Amino acid sequence: MKPVIKSKHQIENIRKACRLASRALDEVTFMIREGITTEELDTFLHDFIVKNRATPAPLNYKGYPRSTCISVNDVICHGIPSKDVVLKKGDILNIDVTVILDGFYGDTSRMFCVGGIENLSPVAHKLIEVTEMAMYEGIRAIKDGAYVNDIGIAIENYVRKTETNFQIVREFTGHGTGLSFHEPPQVFHFNTGKTGVKLKAGMVITVEPMINAGHWKSKFDDDGWTARTIDGSLSAQWEHTVLVTSNGFEILSVS
Ligand code: MF3
Ligand code: CO
Ligand code: CO
Repeated sequence: MKPVIKSKHQIENIRKACRLASRALDEVTFMIREGITTEELDTFLHDFIVKNRATPAPLNYKGYPRSTCISVNDVICHGIPSKDVVLKKGDILNIDVTVILDGFYGDTSRMFCVGGIENLSPVAHKLIEVTEMAMYEGIRAIKDGAYVNDIGIAIENYVRKTETNFQIVREFTGHGTGLSFHEPPQVFHFNTGKTGVKLKAGMVITVEPMINAGHWKSKFDDDGWTARTIDGSLSAQWEHTVLVTSNGFEILSVS
């Protein structure tokens, strides 16, 4: 399956979906505090998305039971919002929102912390910052004519030179998106040693590195979704949906 080159009309619509997903993250920021559950955050986001005439893409996707993914501390990704997950001071969390607006997809996630950065451990603080910078290093490698593996090379080089104790997750990847949730190509966040497909203007892909403060490996909870670090180390992730343009890129998931 080849990546789709989106038309101008499709790009305009994907941009709207991405903007809505980004605005959802803006709105939920103010709700994050000690004592709130991830289920309450999910309910808020679900209502916000539906009020804006969109649909949360994760809900019922391959049997996924909620509208967003909320991944706390050692959860790498696909954390299922739950009334049993009560946030406490010093926690770090990723909230991943994907909306379907008029049939078009927008996918973005950010890291948050509970109780202000003064409550974060030095490792947690570093991990959040390194992961965000790693995402932007990957995004900066995007342009018409570059290869998909250039993104992974940029991320890997950055992480290696910045923090040798951190490892990049290998088992989950970015992806094409826009007309459906997950489209080709797969976007690895490390150097695979193979060029991968050539990026062309009009492709829409996500860059969403997950980085662990320890080993890269993951294990699944019994729910079959929640992916955790094998060694209990903290994990962080940031995600943008990005349009490939003739001279570079445009980040679509901005407010
Ligand atoms: N939003 C995730 C991504 O970035 C996918 C979540 S799939 C779900 O690709 F089913 F867990 F929601
Ligand atoms: Co994604
Ligand atoms: Co996502």
